[in-house]
Amino acid sequence: MSDLFSVKGKVALVTGGTSGIGQMIARGLVENGARTYIVGRSVQTCTDAAKELSQYGECLPLPGDLSTMAGVEAVIAALCAKEKQLDILVNNAGAMYDAPLDEFTEEGWDSIIDLNLKSVFFLSQKALPLLRAAVAANEQASVINIGSVGGLRVGPKENYSYQAAKAGLHHLTGSLAKRLGPENIIVNAIAPGFFESRLTSAKDLPPAVLQMVPRRRMGNPDDIVGAVIYLSSRAASFVAGAVIPVSGGMTL
Ligand SMILES: NC(=O)c1ccc[n+]([C@@H]2O[C@H](COP(=O)([O-])OP(=O)(O)OC[C@H]3O[C@@H](n4cnc5c(N)ncnc54)[C@H](OP(=O)(O)O)[C@@H]3O)[C@@H](O)[C@H]2O)c1
Repeated sequence: MSDLFSVKGKVALVTGGTSGIGQMIARGLVENGARTYIVGRSVQTCTDAAKELSQYGECLPLPGDLSTMAGVEAVIAALCAKEKQLDILVNNAGAMYDAPLDEFTEEGWDSIIDLNLKSVFFLSQKALPLLRAAVAANEQASVINIGSVGGLRVGPKENYSYQAAKAGLHHLTGSLAKRLGPENIIVNAIAPGFFESRLTSAKDLPPAVLQMVPRRRMGNPDDIVGAVIYLSSRAASFVAGAVIPVSGGMTL
């Protein structure tokens, strides 16, 4: 059982690996020996982030805009040019928009649903040949969708499209897990609580907000990396369609 939680030698793709939670996840996978590709929109930012993470192992930039089908296809084409298989796909890239109900815009609805929900479905679909090749080589491939506690219970913000997209993503995780489980592709989701990022800054969180968190703190990199390593490894082989809250108990 010594390699039960191992991701050493695997190939991973982390969307949104240039910042926040995605960067924490990418670093964790890199440090644990996975060759990890990171996606972000800016070529410069993506290249710089990959260079920074390369001090811990193998990290490569794969710049692209996942909010469009053309962008999704281009990212997978670029990955196919470099790799024959993909063992771990972390669908993490996401954005948030919030506005009072009467002022909520169509753009604020469509842009969030497109990136946080639609792109996860089509990136996973386009990655299937690479994921299937990983199963042929290593018996298992893993897809991990980064949802949110906002998709498990209605939060205080008026971020209607975000919460709907995340609830939809949790349900989509189950649909894909059911379809792909027999093929040894295990699909699960993580629902994070508060983690330091561009979306959620500790500076902007009033201390009272942490009263909603039984653990009374924000998440740290080990918290999210531990869950991702688990779901990426043989240890989670019998776990399918789960949505694991990593939120310090916020959903209780
Ligand atoms: N932080 C939290 O407290 C929290 C809580 C619950 C869930 N989450 C979820 O965690 C995930 C990561 O969020 P975060 O908080 O770490 O936010 P973040 O710091 O803003 O990071 C978002 C990442 O997504 C990438 N991205 C955004 N739009 C993209 C696009 N169109 N194409 C490709 N990449 C794109 C960004 O890269 P570029 O800007 O370089 O393109 C960046 O790397 C999201 O799905 C979010 O909903 C976060």
